[in-house]
Amino acid sequence: MADLEKARKLIAKEKKYFARSARINYYDLVIDHAHGATLVDVDGNHYLDLLASASAINVGHTDERVVKAITTQAQKLIHYTPAYFHHVPEIELAQKLAEIAPGKSPKMVTFGNSGSDANDAIIKFARAYTGRQYLVSYMGAYHGSTYGSETLSGVSLNMTRQIGPMLPGVVHVPYPDLYRRLPGESEHEVALRFFAEFKRPFESFLPADETACVLIEPIQGDGGIVKAPEEYMQLVYNFCHENGILFAVDEVNQGLGRTGKMWSIQQFKDIEPDLISVGKSLAAGLPLSAVIGKKEIIDALGTPAHCFTTSGNPVCAAASLATLNVIEADHLVEKSASDGEYVKKRFLEMQQRHPAIGDVRMWGLNGGIELVKDQKTKEPDNETATKVIYYAFAHGVVLITLAGNILRFQPPLVITRAQLDQALAVLDDAFSAVEQNQVELPQTNEKIGW
Ligand SMILES: Cc1ncc(COP(=O)(O)O)c(C=O)c1O
Repeated sequence: MADLEKARKLIAKEKKYFARSARINYYDLVIDHAHGATLVDVDGNHYLDLLASASAINVGHTDERVVKAITTQAQKLIHYTPAYFHHVPEIELAQKLAEIAPGKSPKMVTFGNSGSDANDAIIKFARAYTGRQYLVSYMGAYHGSTYGSETLSGVSLNMTRQIGPMLPGVVHVPYPDLYRRLPGESEHEVALRFFAEFKRPFESFLPADETACVLIEPIQGDGGIVKAPEEYMQLVYNFCHENGILFAVDEVNQGLGRTGKMWSIQQFKDIEPDLISVGKSLAAGLPLSAVIGKKEIIDALGTPAHCFTTSGNPVCAAASLATLNVIEADHLVEKSASDGEYVKKRFLEMQQRHPAIGDVRMWGLNGGIELVKDQKTKEPDNETATKVIYYAFAHGVVLITLAGNILRFQPPLVITRAQLDQALAVLDDAFSAVEQNQVELPQTNEKIGW
């Protein structure tokens, strides 16, 4: 069992000053330093990182090339606001992102400081370009923590409780769930049922010709790593085109190689989004976000409608250019795809032995392992999930849960096979230990997890 003495003292001190609204509580990890897929805490304990700072460190911790880009740029120019003048990293990054975005239409880019403000930008650009006010997003979505992105989200009551009214004009529709389909329902039928649900607002209170945009996560991240069926996505995409509604995707969590494709929307055939939000891993965890959009849409909004003093910061932009180079040079997209297949097989094999594993969802190094009390009723098993992550932490593996009962498997894409095997062995043991009633949870009044 790891010694956590220093960590616990520091956490006790932090409790006096740090806002509880900004922390989802899991366990006592105070990180001192990290490299690749390894974290080291303040007590000197080593952990394998299966969270990658919430998918913000796809290229691994402290990659030498990214560190060099940051330090070289910091010595030249830490910041000058792109609100008034120009600098080279921002110019080069805008071009690079416009070039690598999916689809053939010319693209333009706007920068921000977080995934949240990128999704706020989507609202602004969509409204400005279409001259329409309504927006559609999804239940189960997490789009961020600014007022606009929090309104677009639909994953936690605490994201609206006490802080309403939220932004007007946002309608949420249900996200298709293939795991909890109706008895005997085929994937085709699931797609049609959820498309009928998608259309219901448009048939009853939401004029399509006043709707600016549909924003979707091609794979819902915080919703539990849930992927919409291909047919559903195509139906929604076509509906948007037929009705002059922009089709926008949130790639903040799932983009940049996470799903085994550069962009998670490339999991679907021939879809060119009108607007794309990116963040998290874009600058290897430094605060940088971007919206990449079709040229005419980004051109629709005048200055200073979306303009921040520190957005497109040169150090962040240099880190981002280095990060994108690392993804290409180390073939991390391909690695994510093949390692994801490997890990999926291993979890499916574990599912044969551990009845709590209800569903294994995995696209790239990007998994949601859903734990249930009963394979038939699919009743969520939050207690087992929490015990598994506590056991894993005590045995040197950092991972968290989504929605209470889903294990979130998102390591840095550079994780080695040996490290994956080591982490999977710990998880296998964790299931056995929970089955044998060997894992105790700490006595605490604080809620653990989401
Ligand atoms: C899909 C998605 N969009 C947006 C965000 C918000 O990004 P940020 O926390 O950088 O504001 C997140 C963060 O978890 C996310 O997962």
